[in-house]
Amino acid sequence: MRKQIVAVGLYGMSLLLNTERFPYAGETISGEMLSLEPGGKGFNQAVSVARNGGQAMFITAVGNDIFGKQFFEMCEKYGINGRCAYLQESKTAAAAVLSDVWGESRVIVAQGACRDVTAQCLNFCDIPHQAIWLLQHEMPDEVNLAAARVAKQTDGIVLLNPAPARPIRKELMPLIDYLIPNWGEALTITGMEGEVTPHQVAEKIHTFGIDNVLITMGEQGVWVSQQKHLGLRIPACKVHVEDTTGAGDTFCGAFAACLAKGETVEQAARYANCASGLSVTRKGVMSAIPFESEVRQFILEQAAQ
Ligand code: RIB
Repeated sequence: MRKQIVAVGLYGMSLLLNTERFPYAGETISGEMLSLEPGGKGFNQAVSVARNGGQAMFITAVGNDIFGKQFFEMCEKYGINGRCAYLQESKTAAAAVLSDVWGESRVIVAQGACRDVTAQCLNFCDIPHQAIWLLQHEMPDEVNLAAARVAKQTDGIVLLNPAPARPIRKELMPLIDYLIPNWGEALTITGMEGEVTPHQVAEKIHTFGIDNVLITMGEQGVWVSQQKHLGLRIPACKVHVEDTTGAGDTFCGAFAACLAKGETVEQAARYANCASGLSVTRKGVMSAIPFESEVRQFILEQAAQ
């Protein structure tokens, strides 16, 4: 059984710079240019779906500029079935992605057309039935809410990766089947702080009517919690971290691809944990998202350690 995966999210151009350390206010420092490549959490997740054996449809909005004109070319290059609204008055999104020698990153995103877009972008597509929908917080709430409603009307499943962190709209909560926050996003959503455990945070999220919660926690692994089941911690892979940018996107896309193949939540989470574990051993974003054959090999190597 292979379901289609529909990612609705931001597409933009990213300038990736590597630096020894991040600059202080008013300071100019030297760095190395890694690449100029398409990105955006939605696009990255769609690429991760495609590389991990899923069928990815991607819905976004672009502006009337050179980056917007390249959109379909990029979708073809990365194996994605792309659909977009062209907004004449907007610019295509762009991001400055800085990463340091410790593998940490700092990202500034100008959302451009993806800030201005309305739910009408969903009208550009033939919506597949029983699809898995991948949403993030780089699109307006109105678009995510409309996408989740369409998903439910067509017997689909909704995954929300609430990145960047902001509270989730109340109307959206009961429409979410899987919530995949990182630790900071999970705290923002629940309003919890201090000495709380992943179990407590996930339990609070379940009270919002969300049945499946996967909290990605970097070196602490992934907390997988399903309503009425005991939670489970999947340990992080043993790796040397080069760059963590886009690790969450790799996880979400790989997880969705596994669900589409009919795997259980735990199987999908274990695979996605290894896909993102492999991605952080590589610099960059697009070039770091692994292919299924690489992940399978990496799983064997991790098991032998
Ligand atoms: O998650 C990483 C992504 O966030 C980058 O590709 C950048 O485009 C930003 O949107």
